[in-house]
Amino acid sequence: MDLSTDYMGLALRNPLVASASPLSHTVDGVRRLADAGVGAVVLHSLFEEELAEEAARNARLVEAGRNSFAESLSYFPETAGEEPGPRRYLSLLERAASAVEIPVIASLNGVTPGGWTGYARAMQDAGAVAIELNVYYLPGDPNVSGREVERRHIEILQLVKGAVRVPVAVKLSPYFSSTGEMARQLDAAGADALVLFNRFLHPDIDPESLSVQPGIGLSTRTEARLPRTWIALLHGRLNAALAASTGVEEPDDLAMYLLAGADVVMTTSSLLRHGSEHATVLLDGLSAWMGRKGFGTVGEVRGKLAVPHGSDEAAHERAGYVTALRAANVSAYGPW
Ligand SMILES: Cc1cc2nc3c(=O)[nH]c(=O)nc-3n(C[C@H](O)[C@H](O)[C@H](O)COP(=O)(O)O)c2cc1C
Repeated sequence: MDLSTDYMGLALRNPLVASASPLSHTVDGVRRLADAGVGAVVLHSLFEEELAEEAARNARLVEAGRNSFAESLSYFPETAGEEPGPRRYLSLLERAASAVEIPVIASLNGVTPGGWTGYARAMQDAGAVAIELNVYYLPGDPNVSGREVERRHIEILQLVKGAVRVPVAVKLSPYFSSTGEMARQLDAAGADALVLFNRFLHPDIDPESLSVQPGIGLSTRTEARLPRTWIALLHGRLNAALAASTGVEEPDDLAMYLLAGADVVMTTSSLLRHGSEHATVLLDGLSAWMGRKGFGTVGEVRGKLAVPHGSDEAAHERAGYVTALRAANVSAYGPW
């Protein structure tokens, strides 16, 4: 069975990608993912906040140098202890990229078009074959318009694209008035791939302790329906590749995303739940399914059940909605 595929011009041995997660916090973790068979690994993110902290620390050092004897510079009290996040990240990236044969993609996570975006070049120089840009932005300020949110995404992408030669993917949230148009704008601005979707970690309220609880929940299979719908709608309509992210648990989920039109399928929750070795289960299951269905290559599967070209996409979705409600015999649930 030939599972090999292309993602943003990168040759992958198969379309399963380990998305950004704590599993890639160490070189051993990245090696385990590679040994389990994934086609590529996206490293956990380097955050804009970590880069801002490093810039502030550097400014303090320069200031200290100005105001004290040259001798005191050698003490560098602020650098004592742990290495700053960005340097640690680049070191991990460099070691991980040389430890495994598969492509290692670096991840930058931020919300403002600040100077931090130039850091992408350092990632490229450290061995990243591509950069994934996670614009983790939930516009809580009700005065911020939708267009402003979109403009911010485009600006950050353009800054990063201007800094590197390697491909750049944008990991998107599903919360746009017109997700399709946002995807087209990013495509036109040069995104090499779109990762659909990012998953916000919403804090919750504990009614017993009367407190707000931060929490990271793992996804469930049903959450894959939203990204899958968008992948089916966007397949073949953009130059950018499409990466599916959210809700993969079983081999069928991989098959369903590919049928919808995904170029690659990412997973984090299933690997956190069952261990990195679960990647082997997913891939073996995909091969078995392809064999059963008579597919020889991933290319034969991809997009087979995407929304057909030339169809009215909105009408297609609306028709599916109406048919589904009729099939469910909604009268049983009361008048809407
Ligand atoms: C514990 C944890 C840590 C994560 N860390 C990152 C991160 O550093 N950067 C990022 O872009 N996404 C991060 N994610 C999001 C995942 O990459 C992924 O997009 C999301 O979990 C949805 O995919 P899944 O359903 O396969 O888990 C994290 C998710 C979890 C559960």
